[in-house]
Amino acid sequence: MAKNPQNPDYDPADDPKVVTASEGLKTGAIPNELPPETQTITFHQRFERNATLLLVGALAVVSIGGVVEIAPLFWLENTIEEVEGMRPYSPLELAGRDIYVREGCYVCHSQMIRPMRDETERYGHYSLAAESMYDHPFQWGSKRTGPDLARVGGRYSDEWHVDHLKDPQSVVPESVMPKYAFLMDQPLSSADITDLVATHRLVGVPYTDDMVASASADFRVQVDPFGAYDEMLERYPGAQVRNFDGAPGISEMDALIAYLQMLGTLVDFSTFVPDASR
Ligand code: HEC
Repeated sequence: MAKNPQNPDYDPADDPKVVTASEGLKTGAIPNELPPETQTITFHQRFERNATLLLVGALAVVSIGGVVEIAPLFWLENTIEEVEGMRPYSPLELAGRDIYVREGCYVCHSQMIRPMRDETERYGHYSLAAESMYDHPFQWGSKRTGPDLARVGGRYSDEWHVDHLKDPQSVVPESVMPKYAFLMDQPLSSADITDLVATHRLVGVPYTDDMVASASADFRVQVDPFGAYDEMLERYPGAQVRNFDGAPGISEMDALIAYLQMLGTLVDFSTFVPDASR
C-alpha cells in the first residue's frame, strides 16, 4: 500500500489520515484530501526527475533569450549614435595615444565616465559610445589608481602636464604615479606616422587618402604655431596647435600632452542632446 501521495498508485481512501470531501460531508470532519494534480506526475516533474531532459530544456530556453538579444546586432548597420565633433585623431594625437598605450597608463587610468551622479559631478558628462569609436584598442580601463582621464583635456596647462609627467610628486605630493621624465628626451620622428595612420584606417578608422598622404606633414605642423596649419585644421577640426612641451623639436612628451589635451574636448556638451529614441 502506497502511503506516499506523490506515488501514482496512492489512493487517499487507503490512508487513514486523509478525509475526503464526501467523507467530510458525512461525518462532519474537515476534508484534508490533497488536490488531484499532486497525485500524478505533472509535465514539469518530468523535467525535475530527468537531468538530461532538464539540461536540454534549459539550453533551449536560454538560447531563445540569446538569439533575441544577439541576432539583431548582425543586421544593425551601426549601434553607435553619431555625435557632432567626433573625428579621427590627428597624427600627433594618434602618436601620443600610442605612447599612452605603450607606457601602460590605462593600467591606472580609465577613460570611461559612467552615468552616475558621483562620476558626472567629478569628471563631467558621462562618456558616449561615439567618443571611443576611433579607439583601437579602446581605453576604457578596468582600474582607477588615478582619476578617469576621459575629459582631462583643457583641465590643466601644458606646463602642469610637463611638470606632472616628469615628476608627479612635484605637483601632487601624495601621488603614486611613476615619473615619465624620459619622454622629454625621446625625439619622435615622423617616419612611421604614415604607417600608423594607414594601420588605423585598416582597422576601420575613416582616414581619407588625403589624410594618410599628409599625415607626416600634419604631424609636424601641429607643434609649430608659426607653420601653415590651416589645412591640417580642416582635416582635424578642433586640433590644438602649439609647442606642447615648451622645448624645441618634437618629443614623445609633445605627442602625449597633445593627446591628453584633446581628450574629451571634441564633443561640445553645451549643445549636445542625447537621442533617447536610439
Ligand atoms: C601606478 C599608477 C599610475 C600610472 C601607471 C599612471 N598614473 Fe597617472 N595618476 C596616477 C595617480 C594616483 C594620479 C592622481 C595623483 C596625481 O595627480 O598625480 C594620477 C594623475 C594623473 C593625471 C591628472 C589627472 C587629474 O584629473 O588630476 C594625469 C593627466 C595622468 N595621471 C596621466 C598619466 C599618463 C599619461 C600616464 C602614462 C604615461 C599615467 N598617468 C600613468 C596613477 C598612475
